[in-house]
Amino acid sequence: TNYWKLTNNQLKDCEAIDEAATMLINGEVVAFPTETVYGLGANATDHDAVNKIFQAKGRPQDNPLIAHVSDRVQMEKLVGPWPGYVDNLIEAFTPGPLTFVLPSNGICATNVTAGLSTIGVRIPSHPVAQQLLKACQLPIAAPSANLSGKPSPTTANHVFADLNGRISGIVDGGPTGVGLESTVIDCTQEIPVILRPGGITQEQIEKVTGVVMTDPALANQSDKPKSPGMKYRHYSPEVPLWIIDGSLKRMQQEITGQKETGNRVGLIASNHIVDKLVADEAIALGENLSEIAANLYHALRTFKQSNVDIIICEAFPEKGIGQAVMNRLKKAASNYI
Ligand code: TXA
Ligand code: MG
Repeated sequence: TNYWKLTNNQLKDCEAIDEAATMLINGEVVAFPTETVYGLGANATDHDAVNKIFQAKGRPQDNPLIAHVSDRVQMEKLVGPWPGYVDNLIEAFTPGPLTFVLPSNGICATNVTAGLSTIGVRIPSHPVAQQLLKACQLPIAAPSANLSGKPSPTTANHVFADLNGRISGIVDGGPTGVGLESTVIDCTQEIPVILRPGGITQEQIEKVTGVVMTDPALANQSDKPKSPGMKYRHYSPEVPLWIIDGSLKRMQQEITGQKETGNRVGLIASNHIVDKLVADEAIALGENLSEIAANLYHALRTFKQSNVDIIICEAFPEKGIGQAVMNRLKKAASNYI
């Protein structure tokens, strides 16, 4: 695996990006930073190249990938006609952490869409992702650059830990910003439907489209999600995770109860709570929901490596980016609150 550490030296960074782009053009898979999480990229029009993504990640074949493009003009090349509100969403939120599910026109390889008639397309805002897309002049299929089932990578180190030796290259552009994946929004109907909460919040979308629905499967586990990826138990740490929705006293009771059974307890909570509780190990996620989103996956990965038997986590308000935070936490907890 080639490793390019970007140095903020324009010439050297350009060389690194050109090398990475050449690999992508030649049908190889390369990880790169986006504003949400690191992606594992391949030429979306090359079936064999895309297949290498599934191989490297151990990803189920029925889970479609997102095609990344540099701008609206490139987006138009991959999809059929779209409803008017998509123009407003593009105007408001691209480039940025929003993935549009639209009718596919068949330009991308069939394994990108996992055989569906629709395709997810996203215009990332991260400067490295933008430069890479412009350098290779291709739509790049890219899921998160983690082994399937592990938390998404928010640093190049996370990618290295999961995929070193399994992929052709890693472009290290530092930690990502948002820390959780893009919002996936189905734009094939008259009213848009959020399939996966993410970097652009429901409230932000509502301001633009007036009305937006959410996939009922997000609230009700018994429904079949419209986004195939949402059915998997993603983002799971290797030890059980419990979300405690209650007072500080209640949280401490749970921690103490676990310790009494001989378990080593890891705690993840916001800064203002973490010092008020006594666990075996603790990670403060941040002051506010944006910081909590940015630090969550790193915390889940850290506990994988440290020897705790159970992770106890605070329940966060499901407002703004908190919706995406709780969506990922509930998956990690197999919905156990
Ligand atoms: O922020 C992100 O979106 C990151 C970065 C790398 O861009 N990518 C990412 O990809 O999270 P991935 O593959 O881990 O998640 C893609 C999600 C999956 O839940 C998948 O099922 C859904 O998008 N998806 C893709 N195409 C779809 C389609 N045509 N219809 C419904 N859901 C789709
Ligand atoms: Mg993923």
